[in-house]
Formats: sequence, structure tokens, C-alpha cells
Amino acid sequence: MSFSIIGTGMYVPPKIVTNDELCKFVDTSDEWIRQRVGVERRHICTDETATDLACKAAINALENCGCAPGELDLIIAATVSGDMASPSVSCMVQRRIGAECFAFDINAACAAFVFMLDTAAGFFKRGRVKKALIVGAEQMSKIVNWEDRGTCVIFGDGAGAAVLEAGDGYVDSVLTTKGGDEVIRIPHFIGKSPFSTIRPQEPYIFMEGQETFKYAVNAMCSDIRKLLEDNNLTADDIALIVPHQANKRIIDLAAARLKIPTEKFYVNIQEYGNTSSASIPIALDELNRSGRLKRGDLIVLTAFGGGLSNASCIIKW
Ligand code: COA
Repeated sequence: MSFSIIGTGMYVPPKIVTNDELCKFVDTSDEWIRQRVGVERRHICTDETATDLACKAAINALENCGCAPGELDLIIAATVSGDMASPSVSCMVQRRIGAECFAFDINAACAAFVFMLDTAAGFFKRGRVKKALIVGAEQMSKIVNWEDRGTCVIFGDGAGAAVLEAGDGYVDSVLTTKGGDEVIRIPHFIGKSPFSTIRPQEPYIFMEGQETFKYAVNAMCSDIRKLLEDNNLTADDIALIVPHQANKRIIDLAAARLKIPTEKFYVNIQEYGNTSSASIPIALDELNRSGRLKRGDLIVLTAFGGGLSNASCIIKW
């Protein structure tokens, strides 16, 4: 017994920042960002925090399937841009939505949504839970250096959520980690210990763009190949691939290498940028509400990011 996704939800802050507006902060252009990344605009927090986004997406997902907060047995959340180290985002969501179940966060950066699903699958398998809420929420605008054109043009804020119920909708997964901080890192604020001899690093996203790009394409290709092979499936059996939205060119290149038509890959990066752990659940919610997902469809979710980690899975809708 695993789970099926019975509800999805999302929330993005109303403030939209266009590529042209970014030209006020950094030496860039709308044309460069569209061509090299695929982003046209992103939603950015003004008076809301990652916790606020998480709660709104969670309520949206619960309403989508008519699930009351009291029915939940588990909440898992993920963020790299939360308000506090403790309490975790999941604990704040539990309180604000009025749930009573246990709750904890995981940290797997942009690959977190699949790591959360896989973690939840274990609880379902052991019969510990019957309904679970999974939330990815990010206020990336808080942790990007708005003077670094290599990163600030890429990211956006938002949250996505899914409600899971015991079922047979989680088919298979592949999780990979290649630990190290050379390619992507987000240092914590270090504080002011009078005893520390470590020089504080700026608490902003650092990313080697090209190394990340190569890792992402290779990870997506090897994950998708493995999932198809291990499950005796071909790309024709898959209704849709929902990739982490980091760069449109990453998706196009992976599609070309896999010889899978790009139309099979869902893309919404133009509207939100890279919202890290929120990117796949936001995409799932858009697909769900637009009626593009049919019960029984096989869907591949594929994600990669800081860690470095990559994680992909097949779900049956
Ligand atoms: N606007 C205009 N020019 C820019 C720019 C921007 N926002 N950012 C970089 N450039 C410039 C560089 O300075 C460089 O100029 P130069 O040739 O004069 O030195 C040129 O563009 C090419 O830089 P490069 O780093 O090779 O660009 P790129 O094509 O690799 O694109 C990224 C940069 C970051 C968009 C791309 O590498 C990428 O998307 N990487 C993956 C990021 C990712 O997936 N992150 C999330 C992981 S979860």
C-alpha cells in the first residue's frame, strides 16, 4: 500500500516582477533572460513570508479534495528559505490550519518534493498514516543576492501542496545524492560568537551556473531512463513529465537527449521562475485544475538541485 494524490494546491504572492524591472538592479535584459533561462516574470513576496505561502497552498490543497485539517495524520514540508530554523514550516502549518497530526520538515532543496513523497510512502506502507499533507514553500527573494545577475534573474517565490491518501498511486522512485557545496550552496547566517574563528559567508545563494546545468541535464536523463527501464515502460506509456522548473534549456536538452517530445514536458517557468521545492507541486496543481491529468495516467516527476541531489518518481494519477 502506498498513496494516491487526491488534492493539490498552490499560492504565489500577487506582486509580479518582470524581467524589465530587474534591469534596474542588475546589468541584464528581458531578451537574455527569456532566451537563456525561459523566465518572463516571477512572483515576489512583499508582506508575506514562506510560512504564509505554505499555509495558503496547504489550505488550497485541502479544499481541492474536501479534506478537513483534522483528518490529516502527517504533514511534511520543505523549504530552503523558511522564516525560522525552529519551529519548522510544517509545525507552523499544522498550527495555522488547525491540524493535530505530527509534522516535520526535510531539506533536499529543489528535489525536496520527490523526497517528501518518498518519505511519506514509508509511513503509508507501515500503515502509520491514512492521509498526509506535503508542502513545498519558498521565499527565494530573501536569499538571492539582488546584485548577482547570475542568480537573481532565475528564482521566484511561491508554495505548492498535495494531499495524499492511502492508495496505489506511487509506482517507483529513484533518489540520488552527490554531496558537496562547491556547485550550489546557501550559507546560514553565522551569528556573532566571540569564540568563532570562522569568517561569516554572505547568506545568499551561490551557484556555479554551468556545472548546475550539466548536473541537471544528466540527472534528469539518467533518472527517467532508469525509471522507464526498471518498470518495463517506454516514454509512450507516460502521459506527462513534470520537471523541476530551473531553466527551460535544461528541459529542452534533456528531452532531446531522451528523444521524448518536448510537448510531454510541462513548463511554467515563464510565469514563476525557479521556486525550488514549490516548483513541482505548483506545476501539478496547474495541471490538475486545468483538467490535463486523467485518473490512471502515469506521470513522471523529476527534480534536482542543491545537495547535490536529484529525485524522480512515477505516480499513477
Ligand atoms: N544577464 C545578462 N548576461 C548574463 C546574465 C544575465 N542575467 N547572467 C550571466 N550573464 C553573462 C555572463 O556574465 C557571461 O558573460 P561573458 O561571456 O561576457 O563572460 C555570459 O552571460 C554567459 O554566462 P554563462 O554563465 O555561461 O551563462 P549560461 O548560458 O550558462 O546561463 C545560467 C547562466 C545561470 C542561466 C545557466 O547556467 C543555468 O541556468 N544554470 C543552471 C541553474 C539552475 O538550474 N539552478 C537551479 C538549480 S536547482
